[in-house]
Amino acid sequence: MPFKTPNKTSEYIRSFIKTDGLYSRIISYADEHYIPVLLPESAAVLKQIVSTAKPARILEIGTAIGFSSLVMLQNSEAKLYTVEISEERVNKAKEFMSEAGVSERATFFVGDAGEIVPMLSGKFDFIFMDGPKTRYIEYFPYLDKLLVKGGALVCDNVLINGWVSGEEEVSKKKSTIAVGIEKFLETLYSDEQYSTCLIPVGDGMSWSVKERE
Ligand SMILES: C[S@@+](CC[C@H](N)C(=O)[O-])C[C@H]1O[C@@H](n2cnc3c(N)ncnc32)[C@H](O)[C@@H]1O
Repeated sequence: MPFKTPNKTSEYIRSFIKTDGLYSRIISYADEHYIPVLLPESAAVLKQIVSTAKPARILEIGTAIGFSSLVMLQNSEAKLYTVEISEERVNKAKEFMSEAGVSERATFFVGDAGEIVPMLSGKFDFIFMDGPKTRYIEYFPYLDKLLVKGGALVCDNVLINGWVSGEEEVSKKKSTIAVGIEKFLETLYSDEQYSTCLIPVGDGMSWSVKERE
């Protein structure tokens, strides 16, 4: 069972999704090594958003082994800048990207996003946040500075296991994650620069467009 199945709807959506050779190998590797990657139905949404947005410069927080990176690179002509704390995962991501022939468009930053993101300069027209969930709120002000007007910020796991909406009960141990994400969503929705929608696909995705500066 390569992915957790949040519900019947996800299972149904997945029945339409075909994964090619490389994608299925990445997913199998992730599964074998307990590495969390984008759920297939969420990857399909990300693909659609990127294809429509046609970004030129993408920033990603949380590379893991490069599954979502590849989805974005293969569905745009963008240059991707991606941040990951695990060197081992980055090395694997580099292998997969080289195999896909997209390495030239990818730049990797290995280290803590909390240290790297505040030091980044330049502008991005697409940001995909999929790093440590409790820290979305901490990264947001920095990401906001890096995102151009008209750019998009897409975040994964914003409904994390149904905990944020109250659909599933969250244990005391995990409540910090749910509270952190909840605060992040409140901040995002109350920010008048952004138009935000929540997509209840996979583990929940938010899609915000920076309409004003
Ligand atoms: C959900 S996974 C990313 C999955 C990837 N986006 C994909 O769909 O293929 C989150 C990643 O964030 C990384 N991470 C966790 N804390 C981090 C931090 N402080 N700075 C940078 N990366 C971090 C983890 O090592 C993990 O690989």
